[in-house]
Amino acid sequence: MSVLPIYIYGQSVLRKKARPVKTPSEELSALAADMIETMRKANGIGLAANQVGDLRRIIVVDAGVITESEDVPPIAMINPEILNRDGSWSIEEGCLSIPEIREEVERAEKVLVRYHDPALNVHELDADGLLGRVILHEIDHLNGVLFLDHLGAVKRKLLRGRLNKLERGEVDVDYPIVGNSMPATGTDFR
Ligand code: NI
Repeated sequence: MSVLPIYIYGQSVLRKKARPVKTPSEELSALAADMIETMRKANGIGLAANQVGDLRRIIVVDAGVITESEDVPPIAMINPEILNRDGSWSIEEGCLSIPEIREEVERAEKVLVRYHDPALNVHELDADGLLGRVILHEIDHLNGVLFLDHLGAVKRKLLRGRLNKLERGEVDVDYPIVGNSMPATGTDFR
């Protein structure tokens, strides 16, 4: 397994829509495993394939950490889709691609998600609270949507200066990244 660099705000892959996965493969399973390792290395609780420069519909969520259940492993979800959503609540969110910015975002409180595992077996999961929220945040990534897009115009305006810095590559994190301060090596989006 390997830790992959995370694409930072301003990189175009974060604004692209990812494509469904049609066939299982060893390479797909390996990518899902790498994404889990990358998420953990960066102390994240979720990660979408766009964030590692890959445009397939794959997300990983650290369900055990999120639900505080040590025996629950991280889940790799291929082609996740929301079948049903209920309620709404607000809480601060962050994103590994948008370091050091956290803002309150309103999302559904409960979701029913259908997804495939890397062997493409289908599963359904009722997810509420933080787990549901992380799944919604990651599925947004697959559609080129960032949590910033859920904020009002005034809040977005207030963040502009900090976002410009991220776009310029002024980023200080302790995980590997692809940003503008270095040549982007991963522009061959699959
Ligand atoms: Ni994110």
